Amino acid sequence: MAPYIGTSVSRVDGRAKVTGAAQYAAEFDAPDLAYGRVVTATIACGRVARIDITDALRVPGVIAVLTHENRPPLADNDKGYKDDVAPSGSPYRPLYDDKVQFNGQPVALVVAEDEDTARFAATLVRVEYDAQPHETDFFARRDAAFTLDRRTTRRGDAAAAFSAAPVRHEAEYVIATEHHNPMELFASTAIWEGGGRLTVYEKTQGVQNVHRYLCGVFGIEPDHIRVVSPYVGGAFGAGLRPQYQVVLAVLAARALQRSVRVVLTRAQMYALCYRPATIERVALGANADGTLQAVRHEAIAVTSQHEAFARNDTSWSGLLYTSPHAEYVHRLVRLDLPTPADMRAPGAATGVYGLECAMDELAVALKLDPLELRLRAYSDRDQNDDLPYTSKALRDCYSRGAEAFGWSQRKPEPRSMREGNELVGWGMASGVWEALQVPTAARIVLTANGHAEVACATSDIGTGTYTIMAQVAADMLGLPLDNITVKLGDSSLPRSPVEGGSWTAASVSHAIAAAADEVRTALLALVAKAPDAPLAGVAPDDAVLANGMIASRRDPARALSIADAMRAGGVERIAREASVDFKDDGKYARNTHSAIFAEVRIDEELGVIRILRIVSAVAAGRILNTKTARNQIVGGVVWGIGMALHEETQIDHRFGRVMNANISEYLVPVHADVHDIDVIFVDEPDPHVNALGIKGVGEIGIVGVAAAIANAIYHATGKRIRDLPITLDKVLG
Ligand code: MOS
Repeated sequence: MAPYIGTSVSRVDGRAKVTGAAQYAAEFDAPDLAYGRVVTATIACGRVARIDITDALRVPGVIAVLTHENRPPLADNDKGYKDDVAPSGSPYRPLYDDKVQFNGQPVALVVAEDEDTARFAATLVRVEYDAQPHETDFFARRDAAFTLDRRTTRRGDAAAAFSAAPVRHEAEYVIATEHHNPMELFASTAIWEGGGRLTVYEKTQGVQNVHRYLCGVFGIEPDHIRVVSPYVGGAFGAGLRPQYQVVLAVLAARALQRSVRVVLTRAQMYALCYRPATIERVALGANADGTLQAVRHEAIAVTSQHEAFARNDTSWSGLLYTSPHAEYVHRLVRLDLPTPADMRAPGAATGVYGLECAMDELAVALKLDPLELRLRAYSDRDQNDDLPYTSKALRDCYSRGAEAFGWSQRKPEPRSMREGNELVGWGMASGVWEALQVPTAARIVLTANGHAEVACATSDIGTGTYTIMAQVAADMLGLPLDNITVKLGDSSLPRSPVEGGSWTAASVSHAIAAAADEVRTALLALVAKAPDAPLAGVAPDDAVLANGMIASRRDPARALSIADAMRAGGVERIAREASVDFKDDGKYARNTHSAIFAEVRIDEELGVIRILRIVSAVAAGRILNTKTARNQIVGGVVWGIGMALHEETQIDHRFGRVMNANISEYLVPVHADVHDIDVIFVDEPDPHVNALGIKGVGEIGIVGVAAAIANAIYHATGKRIRDLPITLDKVLG
């Protein structure tokens, strides 16, 4: 039986998804289900002075209107609200008191017998505010930025080395605020099971995180609540932390002792979380030969008044390239907005945009090909920590990507390539992300008919986790893929942290491998008991599961089918749970890398930008599934197109409110914007990163894409536009 790992197996949950059999959080039903509709604040800062719910309550079918004034008790300390991935500060507490911390925060929940009634009655809740002055304008407040010490690092004397460098480039690159916009709305269906017990169907990237959070917020006993999330319609980081609708659904269910569903509207999701607007200030000092002397990178980003959200934007700059002097600083501006959140490759998507545009500008100053500059500055060691990489096949990404793209045909001069009335531009950039692993457990139940169920509380946020779990289990147990059933997204399953950081594939795969080891050992113990059995005396490290058999590796003739082995042992099933810890020994840097090449076409008179081709060459260790992995990279590239050309959350600062809180005015790439995307996975055997050589691919796909496009636009037009998104008015302006 050929292994499944490394092949292009189709999604095992694909049929359920396309036929509608897959159930999402808002699709679970209960008898007597009530519907909650959120009423949101229309000021950005201040207090609710008066809230009048009498008209809403008069509507036939309205069951209750919950506000901070009449709600049941909630935890009165920050600790109760701290979820697993909360930043430092005070987490936001929905319906806790009369304080308004951001425009769009919930101030009431109307619960009714049906959705339309709740929706109508919500319009009748009258709220009066004591408004206080607010500030939501990042650029107006940038001078008020404060420095986060833990994000400040330096080596050598970057300021002096930069001043002394023969060739210098320094500029600011700006990335607009972006919202996640997953297809599935945030939704919670809290099923009242009686006796204070609840099952919560939830849209989340981490059922056990939500479980712990709800226990903290409501003081519920852990065994009285279960959080379930079998399918997630996209989240991209928005689902890492519990969102407020789950608090409201559970609050109402407990108050009414009845099942309640709360689904947010698309507009309401714009007051949840977002990737903060960021200014990336990058200074590069180089020798005439293109080797770097100094890298300085300062990021300024947005956070809320109540939490200090920050990600690593800057230190990629000293990681990706060799430079004896480097200095990074991360600064934050507090605004009257909700706390930002992780969004696909948080920190790298934005920070590497700045770095890779700056490298392109440096290449122009040096009169070097941009790819050649990357090779001259190449780093074989992580210089931030002075460590070798577990593996780094970035050179292969450059060469294979360049070859597939035809980079050698590029004419260096801007505006030198054209076709008809279109200017043609070719740009490139590098990408980098982390290869992370987190403690995770998995359980395997093997039954005598040769079927196995593999279970872990992790999520599948569309990344293909169901499928890779099935592949790994099938290979480790020596069973056909069809004999494997995967269970995930249930807080009662073996421990898993949130699905994020591209760490799930590596983490859950090793947990499954460990559980399979225990199953094999248990099976061997069963058959070794029988003295005349073919496997008597076989040592555990010589036993192997393959082709539905347990066999001796050294002497394959000594084998027994799983069914016979179980019969011999007199058992119907073997259940084993194992966990993996992943202690980082600190000996290696662990990263994935990429090289992106982009071709843009720009109408010279109209400024219309088309992106005709993107080649993304990725080095990410062992690829478990070439189809789902490619799908991740394509998704990341498409988002990179959106980041470069379309996406921008616009706030009306008079009200501190998002103006384009809908997906017709918040632009994302549509099919007509997306042309050829060529994904190449370069070979990257990695004996050090972990036993199976897995690095994860969920996030590397977006990193560097916007920079490659911006650099291509410069090459096409001769015009350097540093502020994203690059719209046609900026091209023409
Ligand atoms: Mo990812 S931004 O960790 O979901």
